[in-house]
Amino acid sequence: YSEQDSNEDYLFKIVLLGDSGVGKSNLLARFARNEFYSNSKSTIGVEFQTQKMEVNGKEIKAQIWDTAGQERFRAVTSAYYRGAVGALVVYDVSRRQTFDSVDRWLNELHTHCDMNVITILVGNKSDLKDAREVSTTDGKSLAETRSLFFMETSALDSSNVNAAFQTIVKEIY
Ligand code: GTP
Ligand code: MG
Repeated sequence: YSEQDSNEDYLFKIVLLGDSGVGKSNLLARFARNEFYSNSKSTIGVEFQTQKMEVNGKEIKAQIWDTAGQERFRAVTSAYYRGAVGALVVYDVSRRQTFDSVDRWLNELHTHCDMNVITILVGNKSDLKDAREVSTTDGKSLAETRSLFFMETSALDSSNVNAAFQTIVKEIY
């Protein structure tokens, strides 16, 4: 963890990774503001939100960074990753291709961060039941193989969004 101030005030930088359109920005909007945008635009550059959380009775500030999945819109990569202690690698359960990209995102993460940055694999859009292209089993088994935490979420119906961020912050702490 990174310690800020002198007392019990912690600031954890967490980065969101994953292909364009998987729902990174909406996961952050749901978590930080309880909002959802049904036709949000691609992120350009970098945005972050700081969210207060409580873990084991201590106040934690999670600073969550979000950038574009598309190369041409991305923030300067090294600055994006600098100081990160946690990562959410997100794919879209209704688009197999985004799941196939997970290893690429993990490689990039490990190029810029310590190997032991706490990472959770997130299968988002679990609400799209009829359009599913990636089974829960496949998600779980990839997570196991890569030693990652795993959760399926929906930014649309809110399921597991808080839980995913809580899991990562708890583990960092
Ligand atoms: P980039 O910024 O381009 O990297 O994309 P992103 O990963 O930030 O995706 P974004 O949050 O902008 O979401 C892309 C689209 O998916 C939007 O139309 C969202 O409304 C939709 N979306 C995001 N999360 C969910 C979800 O959980 N369920 C459903 N059904 N749609 C979602
Ligand atoms: Mg975005």
